[in-house]
Amino acid sequence: MNPIYTDTPQRYGLISRALHWAMALVLGWQFLTALTHVLLEDSALDEFMWSTHKAAGVLLMLLILLRLGWALHNRRQRPPSVSRAARAGHVLLYLLMLGIPFFALLRQYGSGRELTVFGLQLMPGFAGEKIEWLMLPANLFHAWAGWLLLVLIIGHVLMVFVHRRQGQDVLPRMLGK
Ligand code: HEM
Ligand code: HEM
Repeated sequence: MNPIYTDTPQRYGLISRALHWAMALVLGWQFLTALTHVLLEDSALDEFMWSTHKAAGVLLMLLILLRLGWALHNRRQRPPSVSRAARAGHVLLYLLMLGIPFFALLRQYGSGRELTVFGLQLMPGFAGEKIEWLMLPANLFHAWAGWLLLVLIIGHVLMVFVHRRQGQDVLPRMLGK
């Protein structure tokens, strides 16, 4: 494969960078939908934004699967993390980015309600009893884990600039410079 697509120890390749920044954009949108849902409940803006939450969540689920696969494929040739804490932080970001939409989709399935996103019916829904155990993890943790992810993302961005001030500028390797 053309080396501009793959990672090297000096910088992330085009595909890793596209996935990182595309997910940052969609996650930014996802948190806007959640924030308007909390702060402007039942407003017209909330109605519009919240109507996109599940579709954006499904898109994030697809993107994280691609990103995880690509990260594993490139694991021996990526830029090394600046510290073990940074590495642990990235692993936690991955776990939340994977777990949050996964368990939300299990809950959606268990509720028996149909799910159509981007004009595609992903779940037909069913009549009868809900499947409670499929719904439990997201009922307990979805919102909490979502807000935790937002806090970690803010920390992640702050750390990029902390490292930069300490003379370890990691931004160029995610910008492809
Ligand atoms: C919005 C959600 C974001 C998430 C979930 C996220 C997540 C991650 C993850 C998991 C990594 C490790 C590399 C990888 O596997 O892709 C990473 C690297 C990086 N991110 Fe983000 N990121 C986000 C936004 C941002 C923003 C806004 C910036 C801008 C400052 C940024 C700057 C970087 C840099 C510079 C690296 C490379 C760090 C290194 O090589 O050690 N990220 N990000
Ligand atoms: C990475 C993807 C996702 C993130 C970051 C996320 C984030 C959030 C957050 C922060 C909340 C709390 C809002 C509040 O406090 O009122 C929330 C609620 C909710 N989300 Fe998501 N979400 C994601 C994916 C999904 C998916 C895929 C679905 C369904 C298919 C979904 C369905 C819901 C529902 C029904 C609620 C309201 C019930 C609850 O708070 O658990 N989300 N989401």
